[in-house]
Amino acid sequence: MANTSERGFFTSRIGIILATAGSAVGLGNVWRFPFMTGQNGGAVFIILYIGCIFLLGIPGMVSEFIVGRRSHANAAHAYQEISGRRSWGLVGYLGILTSTIILGFYAVVAGWCLQYLGVSIAGQLQGDTAAVTTYFQQFSSHPVKPALLGVVFILITHFIVVRGIQGGIERASKLLMPVLLLLLVIIVIASCSLPGSLQGIEFLLRPDFSKVTNEVMLEALGQAFFSLSLGTACLCTYASYFSHHTPLFKSAVQVAVMDTMIAILAGLMIFPAAFSVGVQPDSGPSLIFITLPNVFQQAFATMPVVGWLISIMFYALLVFAALTSTISMHEIGTAFFTEEHRLPRQRAAWLITSCCSVLAVLCSLSVGAVEGIGLMGLSLMDFCDQLTAKFMLPAGALLTSIFIGWFANQQVVRNEFTNRGTVATSLFPAYQFAVRFVLPILIVLIFLRQTGII
Ligand code: TRP
Repeated sequence: MANTSERGFFTSRIGIILATAGSAVGLGNVWRFPFMTGQNGGAVFIILYIGCIFLLGIPGMVSEFIVGRRSHANAAHAYQEISGRRSWGLVGYLGILTSTIILGFYAVVAGWCLQYLGVSIAGQLQGDTAAVTTYFQQFSSHPVKPALLGVVFILITHFIVVRGIQGGIERASKLLMPVLLLLLVIIVIASCSLPGSLQGIEFLLRPDFSKVTNEVMLEALGQAFFSLSLGTACLCTYASYFSHHTPLFKSAVQVAVMDTMIAILAGLMIFPAAFSVGVQPDSGPSLIFITLPNVFQQAFATMPVVGWLISIMFYALLVFAALTSTISMHEIGTAFFTEEHRLPRQRAAWLITSCCSVLAVLCSLSVGAVEGIGLMGLSLMDFCDQLTAKFMLPAGALLTSIFIGWFANQQVVRNEFTNRGTVATSLFPAYQFAVRFVLPILIVLIFLRQTGII
């Protein structure tokens, strides 16, 4: 493939970690994780989710890192190059397709965040719970505005992606991630100190094992993969910009821990407040857009200016967290068309931008403005979310682990895992066991049980 300096690369280890964490940390943590937890029984879901992150997510991440860094190529080429067979390139193609679909519906939610940033600044997120709920419903089912904001978000992503790897992404991630963490902690404290919040904390911490169903297991698996950006060759693409000294296992653990911590903090931010204001925890994708404005108003009722500032900062950071994720999704397809089809980077990026924008508009319309845009009884938005998280991501991760465990040259895999025998050598057998057996068997089992075959 093209030589490294021509393709661009991350310049420092901290840049690598933060850019990868930037891809992982996003709406998946702050928006999707809380509402999934709410719909799937609270604490038990979190336990299953953490299990999936550490048992399946980390080995899965390392596998994608290995494919990407070894080949220094785009997703499709990377799998072909390591296997020497064209057919394995299909895993890369699947990843490119999946990430394009995800970008389509993700941008709609990111657009909602943009709107909430705007109305926060204008100080318009006011009123009781009913008023805030109505506001969200009216806004999200508006035929033009949310669709337009979704497209705007994709365009912002586009203009960053065409500038290449280092400048924007690396620097912005370094600054924004710590601020996001700090702000989350402040809001968690505010939320937990609202009257009646204890019930919410209990919901998050006291598991009710009768709620474990096959469906919940698959949802936890899907959420874990979604949150780690696993299963679409996204991590493989980012790893193609890693240096040979980057310790892959350690980096995966660091990113996974950061990602999980932020998701749990987001849960602690939402549920105590949701219970406090009487919003149902299983109210779905609208959850954060209804509970948070209430937190900001009630927790800071005596200091409205502080509430106003925190709400602005919060939505601004949500927008940035979403942006570092959409960039990573966009980059997969852009790198592919640039390198494989020899399109100029600009043109390749426009191709992805156009496809995702069409999908984003349709998804946005499907949640209220136009009846009947959907499949299998779900709105197109929910359908894309479910299809990708529950099927395409696990399928991508499954194929990657089979590829690394059974088809790739094990000496090459070992060399990459251990940086040619210099790091984590004693962990290699455990990793190899995980990708050969644990990951494929568990994913297949979860699938089969969910479809009712066993
Ligand atoms: N992980 C991101 C989040 O939690 C979303 C994301 C970015 C993603 N890139 C991805 C999800 C690739 C799946 C695949 O918000």
